[in-house]
Amino acid sequence: MVPSTPTATSSQTARGAAPRSVRWEGAADGQLWLLDQTRLPAELFEFPCPNVQTVWEAIRQLKVRGAPAIGIAAAYGVVTGMQEHLESVSELPSAAAQSLLDQVCDYLATSRPTAVNLFWALDRMRTAGTTACATKLVKREDLLQRLLQTAVEIHAEDREMCHAIGRNGVELLRSAQGVLTHCNAGGLATAEYGTALAAIFAAQDAGHLLHVYVDETRPLLQGARLTAWELQQRGVPATLICDSMAAQVMREGRVQAVITGADRIAANGDSANKIGTYGLAVLAAAHGIPFYIAAPSSTFDLSLESGEGIPIEQRAAEEITEGFGRRTAPLGIEVYNPAFDVTPAKLIRAIITEQGIISPVTTENVRRQLQPHGELLPGRN
Ligand code: MRU
Repeated sequence: MVPSTPTATSSQTARGAAPRSVRWEGAADGQLWLLDQTRLPAELFEFPCPNVQTVWEAIRQLKVRGAPAIGIAAAYGVVTGMQEHLESVSELPSAAAQSLLDQVCDYLATSRPTAVNLFWALDRMRTAGTTACATKLVKREDLLQRLLQTAVEIHAEDREMCHAIGRNGVELLRSAQGVLTHCNAGGLATAEYGTALAAIFAAQDAGHLLHVYVDETRPLLQGARLTAWELQQRGVPATLICDSMAAQVMREGRVQAVITGADRIAANGDSANKIGTYGLAVLAAAHGIPFYIAAPSSTFDLSLESGEGIPIEQRAAEEITEGFGRRTAPLGIEVYNPAFDVTPAKLIRAIITEQGIISPVTTENVRRQLQPHGELLPGRN
């Protein structure tokens, strides 16, 4: 029985059990629940989202984070937003319903700018809702059901894509004993299993236990708090390092591959991911180590020719000067805090998608790999 108030538990999930970062409870009149990732690894705390503002804030504050999970949460957030708007009506004129739908989608689109999965999911929700608004009078029940069905599909597809990415990535890691990863591209960042971590989990499932070096990932420590935790939960041997130790780890021959996720991949393969990823790719090239990106097709933005056009989120100075509640820099110091950087395609040995492996990473190969799903690809920011 799931309690209807926020659930805090200090008990860990059973070893090997995957945490669920996003969960919808009930039917079209049900509710979205999110795992508060800012409280990990200290506690597993799940909270309900009674309105769309809660969903927006959860995305902005990184309570739910990771490109695919943001998209999934936003999709359910559209259902939540429309529930609110339609609370006291059983039907309304098509134009009014469409206008409310646009309002909710536009609002959620302002939560974070870089992960294109957010806009991809909102576009799908808007299209589904628009179809349901095609009749002169729109029934509340029909519209909510249609929206929920689409959100559930997005959620289920991501689950499938993550497992396929895992299967496709195993081969590339076959000759590695040690792997370095950055940020968190695991089950917490997706429906389950992850993208970069999926390849590591799939290798483990196939009997190949890799040793994973985990960048702590300044300033918000997604590597230390989330990836290290996920790897422990699954029994994958892992060593936590400060970001600045990556070069030394490579020079000592401890890793034979670097693998990360992505937030937005342009048509030529340039890939935006957590700040620090670009530096890792440069280091990997300097040490002759392959650098891989693992991402679903929902992370590609073929409307952008190159990474130049990817919007980079700028975050609050306090994340650097007083992260986690302790001041570590003088008051008044100027701060620059871009949350992401772009790794040029030429530094990426391969991009692992659910549809296969893109290598070498060129515009032609990206288009060839993703062509059949071209109409589903995102085209806005
Ligand atoms: O700021 P975050 O924590 O949302 O950043 C997440 C990342 O950079 C991940 O590597 C990326 O979204 C891929 S998640 C499968």
